[in-house]
Amino acid sequence: MQIYKACSINGEIPVPGDKSISHRSAIIASLTKETVIINNYLFSEDCINTLEVLKKLGVKIEKIQSSLIVHGNGLEGFNEPDDILYVGNSGTTIRLMCGVLSAAGFFSVLSGDRSVNKRPMARIIEPLARMGANIMGRCNNTKAPLVIKGNNSLNGIVFKSDISSAQVKSALIFAGLFADSPTEIIQPEISRDHTEKMLEYFGADIKYDGRHTIIYPGSKLQGRNIYVPCDISSAAYFIVASLILRDSHIKIKNAGFNPTRASYIDVLKKMGAEIKVKNQRILNNEEVADIEAWTSSLEAVSIGTEIIPNIIDEIPVLCVAASFAEGITEITGAQELRFKESDRISVIASQFKKAGADIVEKDDGFLIRGKRDLKISGGTYQSFSDHRIAMSLAVLGLKADEEFNIEDSECIDTSFPEFKYLLKKAIENH
Ligand code: S3P
Repeated sequence: MQIYKACSINGEIPVPGDKSISHRSAIIASLTKETVIINNYLFSEDCINTLEVLKKLGVKIEKIQSSLIVHGNGLEGFNEPDDILYVGNSGTTIRLMCGVLSAAGFFSVLSGDRSVNKRPMARIIEPLARMGANIMGRCNNTKAPLVIKGNNSLNGIVFKSDISSAQVKSALIFAGLFADSPTEIIQPEISRDHTEKMLEYFGADIKYDGRHTIIYPGSKLQGRNIYVPCDISSAAYFIVASLILRDSHIKIKNAGFNPTRASYIDVLKKMGAEIKVKNQRILNNEEVADIEAWTSSLEAVSIGTEIIPNIIDEIPVLCVAASFAEGITEITGAQELRFKESDRISVIASQFKKAGADIVEKDDGFLIRGKRDLKISGGTYQSFSDHRIAMSLAVLGLKADEEFNIEDSECIDTSFPEFKYLLKKAIENH
């Protein structure tokens, strides 16, 4: 992908559907015994992989115009797949489906691309095994491919996790739906709660409050139609671009505004960003809002452990904002970034430094000495096949005086296939 210096960014950006909510909508719809219509589903590679996995398990899914129709037949309606279940680059698909398949009465194998098969899986295998699941994985049960021999008599557990991960929590919630007693999950910090919210909306017996979730098994899931809000994480690239470019003003309508996801807006506001959030409302048990952002003079900020799970996917693009914010921004407690699609701490530090940013890598975050008039150098940059790195580099490149190339930018299709087109359309180069 080649990026050219942009003067400004303007207009209404039709950001596609939320990735986390799309995955969950397809999985939860499949677990009902009803037909569920999902609108604004994200047809990105990751979310298509979730659909392909569900289809291999015998779930009937159709796409009619822009709607997805899922003919749920319950977990008992799933069939043993006659091939491996390939999740591509999607950590959410493998971890959430591992929870579901732990409770299915058959054998299955889950595998992904090089990045997924390098990511830590002990974090789901260990607690699921405590529930009675039979899961084996490569590297002494720590990595995918994963082999699961489903067990339809799982037991509920109390699980005090030492990491705050919505994928781990969701895997346990899905397994817990089919256990013989309640499953209780306590995490150190609050992680995104889309699984809880959607299951509640579908009538499951679930209680959640901050770091604490309890799923009671046995309730019948009702079919409810879903409109997937626009992805607030994808919106972040356009919002940060509008803050750092001159004469800019963008709008995003129907953005997901779940507080466990929208915290980066508060961080940017603390940095002095001119952002307005309007028309806040509830749509299928999820908060949504319209967001407007304007060119701003940014100041440095301190970001600590407690908020990290709520901004985890936006840290790469927040590092772009911090590079153009006066003063020293400190990000701590973000060691989980090392276990994403790439080691995002080391990749951001190396690529941003090369571009001219003053950034120091720490074990659990960064120190960034920002300048409003920072000069960005042209050249060839590596995304390390990580979509969020590629899109963050694209925003950084909008400020480069010379040609700015990003290698392996196809990875953007995992979450935001329309990104390049929408960016090109919204920027003005003169
Ligand atoms: C996700 C949870 C987060 C996030 C990922 C999507 C989800 O991962 O980074 O992009 O949909 O549950 P962790 O659970 O590993 O923190």
